[in-house]
Amino acid sequence: MTDTRPELTTRIIAAGPEGIAGAAGILRDGGLVAFPTETVYGLGGDATSDRAVAAIFAVKDRPRFNPLIIHLADPSDAGMLVDMDWRARLLAETLWPGPLTLVLPRRRGTRVSLLASAGLDSVAVRVPAHPVARRLLAAAGLPIAAPSANRSGRVSPTDARHVLTDLDGRIPLILAGGRSAVGLESTVLDLTATGPAILRPGAIDRAAIEAVIGPVTADGPPGETDEQPKSPGRTARHYAPAAPLRLNAAEVGPDEALLAFGPDLRKGPRVRNLSEKGDLREAAANLFAMLRDLDRPEVGAIAVSPIPEEGLGAAINDRLRRAALSA
Ligand code: TXA
Ligand code: MG
Repeated sequence: MTDTRPELTTRIIAAGPEGIAGAAGILRDGGLVAFPTETVYGLGGDATSDRAVAAIFAVKDRPRFNPLIIHLADPSDAGMLVDMDWRARLLAETLWPGPLTLVLPRRRGTRVSLLASAGLDSVAVRVPAHPVARRLLAAAGLPIAAPSANRSGRVSPTDARHVLTDLDGRIPLILAGGRSAVGLESTVLDLTATGPAILRPGAIDRAAIEAVIGPVTADGPPGETDEQPKSPGRTARHYAPAAPLRLNAAEVGPDEALLAFGPDLRKGPRVRNLSEKGDLREAAANLFAMLRDLDRPEVGAIAVSPIPEEGLGAAINDRLRRAALSA
C-alpha cells in the first residue's frame, strides 16, 4: 500500500505545561502525539475515534490485527472500558500506576473504538506512572490508544530522538520527557476467561503479580501458537534491529559488534555494555538504545553476552530472543 498522506513537520517539544496543553489539544482534535512513559515512548491517539486509531495503524505501518493498549489517567477510569473482576481491582490498587497492562473483557457499550482492540472482545488497559504521561492523559480527558512510538517491527523508542528517527514527517508532535526509566514495554497480563497468564514479560514480574492474586501462568495461555497468538504482538517478528543478533556469545567475530553485560574488558566503538556492574535494571533501561546504537550498516551481526534469566533478565531475554529469531 503506498502512503499518500502529506508529509508533516514533526516538532519535538519539552514536556512543560505549554507542551502538554498543546499535545492534549491535538489529541482532542483527533490528531496523534508521541509522549514519554516510564516503559517506552507511546504514539497516542483518541481511543474513542475510529479515525484517530486508524491513523495510528497507518503511521506505524502496523498490521490491523495487532490490538492497542488503552492508556488511562487514573485507575478508576478503567471500569468505563472493561469489566474489572476482583483480580483486576486488586492489581489496579496495588500496581497502578505502573508498567502493567491488564487484558480484560470489553465492557458493553464502551466508546472505545473496536479497531483499537482489533475486533477482539477484550481490551488492554494500563495507567502509566510517568508524570508527563499522567498529566497529558488528565489534560486530554480521553482514553488514549498508544502503541510504542516506533515503525512496526522495529525496536521500541526509549528517547524522543528515537521517535524522530522512526516517525519524522508522520506525526506533528513529540513530547520530550527524557529517557524512559524502565526501558522495556509493560508486562501484559491476560485476565480473561482463560485465567491469569503473562502474555508479555516486563518489569512487573510473575512474582510481583502472584503476590497480589496468586498463581499465574508465565508463558501465555496453553495451546497458543505464533499463527494464532492470544496476544498478536507475541509473534516472533518483533523488536528487531536490522543486524542479526547472536545470543549467549562468548567471542566476538571480526565483523560483529558486542552488546556486553557485566564486567568486561572489551572496549571500542562497536562495543556497548548494558551494565558493567551487572545490574538488570540498568541493563533493561539501556537495552533498546544500545541495540539502535549498534545497528549500523557495517555491522554484520550483534553478539550479545549471556544475561541471567532471573527477575528482569527474563523480560530482557524475551526481547533479545524475538530480535534474534526475526533475522
Ligand atoms: O509499555 C507499553 O506497553 C507501551 C507504552 C507506550 O505504554 N506500549 C506498547 O504497546 O508496548 P504495543 O502496541 O507496542 O504493544 C501492545 C501489546 C501487543 O503485544 C498487543 O498484541 C497486546 O499488547 N495487546 C493489546 N491488546 C490486547 C488484547 N485485547 N488482547 C491481547 N493482547 C493485547
Ligand atoms: Mg510495540
